[in-house]
Amino acid sequence: MTIRKILIHPDARLKKKAAPVTEVTSSIELLAEDMIETMYDAPGIGLAAPQIGVMTRIFVMDCVKDEGEAPRPMVLMNPEITWASDEISSYEEGCLSIPEQYGDVQRPAEVEMHWMGLDGQLHQERFNGLWATCVQHELDHLNGKLFIDYLKPLRRQMITRKMQKLKRETARK
Ligand code: NI
Repeated sequence: MTIRKILIHPDARLKKKAAPVTEVTSSIELLAEDMIETMYDAPGIGLAAPQIGVMTRIFVMDCVKDEGEAPRPMVLMNPEITWASDEISSYEEGCLSIPEQYGDVQRPAEVEMHWMGLDGQLHQERFNGLWATCVQHELDHLNGKLFIDYLKPLRRQMITRKMQKLKRETARK
């Protein structure tokens, strides 16, 4: 397993729509393993393939928070939302591609999603709480959308400038 480099906003690849997975190949399995490893290493609760520069519709997540609880790494390919609640919830989101920046985003409190798993089968599940926020945030990544796109333009510009500065500084090192 390899820990992949996570792209930092702004990056053209984070603004592009990713292409569907057609078949679960061994390279897709390897990609999924690397993504889980990279997510835990960061550490984060979700990671989408475009964030490591792979323009494929796949994301991984594990929103288990409680110390004693067993981890639940999930791999979702070609995910689609099939139902969303009228109820909206607000959550302070962050993103591994936008380190140390947070903002309140409103999204449906509950969603139902279907996706293809590593077993090649179609899965369907209803998500709520942090899981619901996470699946919607990660699905956005596959469509070239970031959580800061939901924030007010001024706030978004401020965050983008901070990230440009951060990238310049790390490039110099
Ligand atoms: Ni993100």
